[in-house]
Amino acid sequence: MLLLIGGTMRKIDVSDVVVALTGAGVSAESGVPTFRGEDGLWQRYRAEDLATPSAFMRDPKLVWEWYDWRRGLIAKCKPNRAHLTLAEIEQTLGPDGFFLITQNVDGLHHAAGSRQLVEIHGDIWRMWCVRCGYEVEDHTVPLPELPPKCPRCGALMRPGVVWFGETPMGMDRAFAAARTADMFLVIGTSGVVYPAAELPTIAHKAGAYVVEFNLKRTPISSYADEVILGPVGETLPEWWEKARPESR
Ligand code: OAD
Repeated sequence: MLLLIGGTMRKIDVSDVVVALTGAGVSAESGVPTFRGEDGLWQRYRAEDLATPSAFMRDPKLVWEWYDWRRGLIAKCKPNRAHLTLAEIEQTLGPDGFFLITQNVDGLHHAAGSRQLVEIHGDIWRMWCVRCGYEVEDHTVPLPELPPKCPRCGALMRPGVVWFGETPMGMDRAFAAARTADMFLVIGTSGVVYPAAELPTIAHKAGAYVVEFNLKRTPISSYADEVILGPVGETLPEWWEKARPESR
């Protein structure tokens, strides 16, 4: 059931550029835990112990054990209807008409077929060497050695994710996309982690029509043109069927 709070539903115009920002909520129905809320990872673990550069320098094995556990969990998950709908939106609108920005590191957008995307918090399936910078994609679960060592120079490898206190990746592309969007979709994010949370604000100020999808209202709801409440695996496909442009 699609519950629309405020505003009327706007269809996508044939010439619209649509940009989407996704967060952990988009993968929740695939079985990937979110960060905040009742069962969120940050209820059970402290970000300061596991997701900062200093935590890694203090105890790389502990940090890697946590990422190895998350990799094992994510490896069992498949894209859900929300991921698949976003891949279909890209296919329909084409590479100039759609761009996806995700805070998720699980790779499920890519697995669903999305290609025009930037993973601003990195990718849990990549790792790189803290000394020589050697980078590799590795889907082994569990990893045979924790912490993994660089095959080139023997130094520590680190998870290919962005930690608190580090600069997110690809933000130039993300900011440019937000500034040029005609429609900006905010999907399954609490909207409290910066600079990602700035993107819908930038789009809104630049004149984009903002549509938010979440289970509940967030700080973004106050200025979104449409707020659609419900599980995104249901609401996003339903919205797309109604909002898709007539031709393109
Ligand atoms: P959060 O866990 O903060 O928020 C998830 C959002 O998704 C919440 O607003 C939920 O209400 C919503 N949600 C959950 N299940 C949903 C469903 N089935 N349908 C619709 N909405 C649903 O996750 P993020 O906003 O992604 O960063 O968190 C942002 C960043 O904080 C993460 O990338 C991570 C974390 O710390 C780093 O690790 C750097």
